Amino acid sequence: MLSIVEQDYGTPERTGDKLVTLTIDGFEVTVPEGTSVMRAAALSQIRIPKLCATEQLEAFGSCRLCLVQIEGLKGLPASCTTPVAQGMKVRTQNTQLADVRRGVMELYISDHPLDCLTCPANGHCELQDMAGVVGLREVRYGYDGANHLDAPKDISNPYFTFDASKCIVCSRCVRACDEQQGTLALTIQARGFDSKVAASQDAPFMDSECVSCGACVQACPTATLSENTLIQKGQAEHSITTTCAYCGVGCSFRAEMQGEEVVRMVPNKNGHANHGHSCVKGRFAIGYATHADRIVKPMIRSKLSDSWREVSWEEAIGYAASELKRIQAKYGRDSIGGITSSRCTNEETYLVQKLVRAGFGNNNVDTCARVCHSPTGYGLKNTLGESAGTQNFDSVMKADVIFVIGANPTDGHPVFASQMKRRLRQGARLIVADPRTIDLVRSPHIAAEHHLQLRPGTNVALINSLAHVIVTEGLVKEDFVRERCEGDSFAKWRNFIALEKNSPEAMQPITGVPASEVRAAARLYATAGNGAIYYGLGVTEHSQGSTMVMGIANLAMATGNLGREGVGVNPLRGQNNVQGSCDMGSFPHEFPGYRHVSDDSVRHQFESAWGVPLRNDPGLRIPNMFEAALDGEFKGLYIEGEDIAQSDPNTQHVTAALTSMECIIVQDLFLNESAKFAHVFLPGSSFLEKDGTFTNAERRISLVRKVMEPKGGYADWQITQLLANAVGYPMNYAHPSEIMDEIARLTPTFTGVSFARLNELGSIQWPCNAEHPDGTPTMHVGTFVRGKGKFLVTEYVPTQEKVNAKYPLLLTTGRILSQYNVGAQTRRTENNRWHDEDRVEIHPHDAEERGIAEGDWVGIASRAGETVLRARITERVQPGVVYTTFHFPESGANVITTENSDWATNCPEYKVTAVQATRVTQPSEWQRRFRKFTDTQQSLLKSAGADVFAGK
Ligand code: SF4
Ligand code: SF4
Ligand code: SF4
Ligand code: FES
Repeated sequence: MLSIVEQDYGTPERTGDKLVTLTIDGFEVTVPEGTSVMRAAALSQIRIPKLCATEQLEAFGSCRLCLVQIEGLKGLPASCTTPVAQGMKVRTQNTQLADVRRGVMELYISDHPLDCLTCPANGHCELQDMAGVVGLREVRYGYDGANHLDAPKDISNPYFTFDASKCIVCSRCVRACDEQQGTLALTIQARGFDSKVAASQDAPFMDSECVSCGACVQACPTATLSENTLIQKGQAEHSITTTCAYCGVGCSFRAEMQGEEVVRMVPNKNGHANHGHSCVKGRFAIGYATHADRIVKPMIRSKLSDSWREVSWEEAIGYAASELKRIQAKYGRDSIGGITSSRCTNEETYLVQKLVRAGFGNNNVDTCARVCHSPTGYGLKNTLGESAGTQNFDSVMKADVIFVIGANPTDGHPVFASQMKRRLRQGARLIVADPRTIDLVRSPHIAAEHHLQLRPGTNVALINSLAHVIVTEGLVKEDFVRERCEGDSFAKWRNFIALEKNSPEAMQPITGVPASEVRAAARLYATAGNGAIYYGLGVTEHSQGSTMVMGIANLAMATGNLGREGVGVNPLRGQNNVQGSCDMGSFPHEFPGYRHVSDDSVRHQFESAWGVPLRNDPGLRIPNMFEAALDGEFKGLYIEGEDIAQSDPNTQHVTAALTSMECIIVQDLFLNESAKFAHVFLPGSSFLEKDGTFTNAERRISLVRKVMEPKGGYADWQITQLLANAVGYPMNYAHPSEIMDEIARLTPTFTGVSFARLNELGSIQWPCNAEHPDGTPTMHVGTFVRGKGKFLVTEYVPTQEKVNAKYPLLLTTGRILSQYNVGAQTRRTENNRWHDEDRVEIHPHDAEERGIAEGDWVGIASRAGETVLRARITERVQPGVVYTTFHFPESGANVITTENSDWATNCPEYKVTAVQATRVTQPSEWQRRFRKFTDTQQSLLKSAGADVFAGK
């Protein structure tokens, strides 16, 4: 637990070996060169008054409150902008300084409302504090002259208010938006007395470029920019540090609390993944946790056409267990399975796979990573030896060239995108490979030197042609390859990649990318210094997803871009705990730590720890579960925190499989799409209601801390434990820390991880063991995890999903900043104000050909199904390509995606679907059926009574 107000040292930390010693008010202080006098003083607990300075931003020197006297220097320099010097002698207090500071404050206060007692910043207002610090006792100018006291409020943003009457024009907000967020939405308009903060061209915040990250709100030293929750509820009385439950960046936050109520989420400046920054989701979109739709009572029913019935926990768990046992007795041991969640904690995920392996007696456990990053695991394991990204996020600050492939960081991983943009503004160079013109291609002060706008489905053709240039133009880092990689695999790969068929010229008709661009991009990546690759689902969700991951690893090895800071192969994981759910043994063929179930010594270790014999054959993957269900062989499923009915491809196939099962147990917050097919509903807990850990895209394990009691009565790990005991496999953990202790005992890469160490270090990047007791920020230093790096031949094999006269367009999918995944959480927040429906993006040429205008209803038909979305006409997509997001169930994006999948991992080919688009006037037949089914299920839910809802 932290105190509410954290010390702010005024200017950013400087690191470096060279130290400087100076004297401040008679005390000797030694700090790294480049440190400001203000920070040096603060480090010695000498507080110099300040208003425009904060340690999150570079010094600006505008308020003149922090003036000091420095021996030998004329005048009174600002301590925030003055760097320390060896032997410097500083005085922070004397009569002259006190007079000047009081004068400055007097001017500020003469144009400031004196409503401190009713002001939302009362108690944490820096202006108020400074008036006290400098001893302001009177304002000689009076309050009658020209002033800004009637300036209007901007309440357009649903999460914060801009009250211009309180603004002191310190520019902290403007600099936060520029430096921290990188959106550059704010400016100081006009000069002198008329100067004021303006969003865009003096627009309301909601109509400006603002993306509602909240950095300006956090930076504001007054109540000018305030969270609405703070205005409504007043200040918090305690805070608890926890980890965001949205994306794979894994930002650390202080949940500021009044009792069990969250007043606001404040990004933790000591958070190793986010350094005090956040996005609109993590900071503001937590209202879903207390939303009226939340179901907080267990429920059961026998058939999908039955009403739900509220029951006790004992009855629900007892019924679920008896059904699972009945099904196994009737249909065999393999007729049931479980699905773990990338949204739940490591400990919860570990327990679900343990329940399946030890309690159900099979390996039928899978996770949603099946449908996103399973190719990452496969591709990186086979080339580099470890199924994870190679760097920490901070590594990007040492990259010279950044290559973003099939990822949209500003929407999917916003806080990391801000850091990446900071590095790009410092001069790193940028290559983007994406069918769509993502924001990063061109944004304020940033432009990709090469946008390789390939056709969907041609990733491997592109990566091969890039590698071809590197191999045939003598750009291979021969010494790195000789020393670090397998010689024969390299020779085989080199011979293959040098073939003319892999040249950019030969691949151009396939990828659609001009050969000259490919050649220039390859040269840049190979020669510009540190080359860092960041990739996303645009790489993995293809029929050749694993091949592409291997192609990326090949490229990085060939150019020596692995094993140090500033380089690497970095999968940007979508959900908060995708990395962790994979690490915890969620795949049917692997125990925790990616060890195959057929490995006798590993299995014996788990058998002796868990006290039961374990199966040595891989269980069913999610798509195989569906197939087996439709074949009548798979009848029972326990789903913790996933919504397969919305997120898996070919919805009609999925729902047919779900309908054919006899007992589906859904453990979740809401009656999600999958729960509409369930027989048992167990109310899950939000991240605010439990202890545990998440592992982000950097392999960083961070603590999730309980800030309130579970609304349904139990945390998810406790519910799994109840179910395990009821099916006859005893589990008796008293706290998630005990589960982590067991994980550490059984998983070599986690040996040194414990809640105590996490509390001590803040977070830990695995591997963490005797060799790396504090974790491993950079992987593969000196040697690859598998020993020598292995090059693998990556033959381009076109997808079977081909355009033809009937389906002439290619649909690709992605996500948007304000919504998250299936939207179950963000759709229940004010984030809908930014995005309240999924739309289909279509190029003006394709739209015109079809008579489609902006906002028209467009039928999108594929070989799998049809749905209807409204059109957004944009040149972001190239001709022949359409694009949509998948955050709203009624959009039915997955009604049209097909069952094509990655050859190695079955990861669905979400990114390539051949479709036709036509102007229509009514919803698709599927959408009409969906609405009817949803209405029926909602009324069956209502029959359970108002008590089952959080908002009763
Ligand atoms: S809004 Fe706040 S941070 Fe921005 S200039 Fe005004 S007082 Fe400073
Ligand atoms: S909320 Fe973020 S994007 Fe919006 S103006 Fe503030 S800093 Fe800029
Ligand atoms: S970037 Fe991701 S982890 Fe960070 S606040 Fe936003 S959603 Fe949460
Ligand atoms: S704090 Fe130094 S000039 Fe404002």
